[in-house]
Amino acid sequence: MILGKRVRLAPIERSLIPRYVEWLNDPEVIAGLTIHWAITLAGEEAWFDGLANRDPVEVPLSIQVLTDGTWLTVGNIGFHAMDHVTHASEIGIFIGDKRFWNSGYGTDAMRLMLRYGFGTLNLHRIWLRVFASNPRAVRCYEKAGFVHEGTMRDSGYKDGKYVDTHFMSVLRHEWQDVDV
Ligand SMILES: CC(C)(COP(=O)(O)OP(=O)(O)OC[C@H]1O[C@@H](n2cnc3c(N)ncnc32)[C@H](O)[C@@H]1OP(=O)(O)O)[C@@H](O)C(=O)NCCC(=O)NCCS
Repeated sequence: MILGKRVRLAPIERSLIPRYVEWLNDPEVIAGLTIHWAITLAGEEAWFDGLANRDPVEVPLSIQVLTDGTWLTVGNIGFHAMDHVTHASEIGIFIGDKRFWNSGYGTDAMRLMLRYGFGTLNLHRIWLRVFASNPRAVRCYEKAGFVHEGTMRDSGYKDGKYVDTHFMSVLRHEWQDVDV
């Protein structure tokens, strides 16, 4: 468990799978994700079963927010493609419960993962890819301390159009641990 004041990152439970299926079939949620197909309950159950064989530091965590005194799961966040030579890892996030967009929860979750990545896992570089057509995500990452590195032109395809993909990152020496 990675604890913040109003966001915490917790292990994913099997009981959450139906909620993930619902969120990952929502066109607004997946507009910023590289999902181009229906997500099935069977597929998500197989994905969940596969987590047991993954490197434990690459198992995604559920994002929980404190509402009315209760911790509610709203999405997930995780490292992947971790490189143990360069101490670098890609990170991905989604908040599937749209009621919780634009309230700073994504930024808090990212800040908690930066603390975990740099402070606990001894990473040197944490990076991500984001569609240029996703300004909410870009702003969220900028607030968390990510800087723009470059753009891969026409590298995504959404709604009948090619979209640019921005690369963003934080290096360990740039990271400022913020109280969240
Ligand atoms: C992207 C995501 C993780 C961001 O989390 P969040 O909690 O909504 O983001 P935050 O509230 O921390 O920050 C969003 C910022 O973007 C701003 N914003 C929202 N819509 C915007 C727009 N159209 N243009 C510019 N800025 C925008 C918000 O005002 C806020 O900035 P502020 O605090 O300076 O006002 C979340 O919205 C999400 O999961 N979306 C769906 C899946 C997705 O796109 N994942 C990312 C894939 S790379």
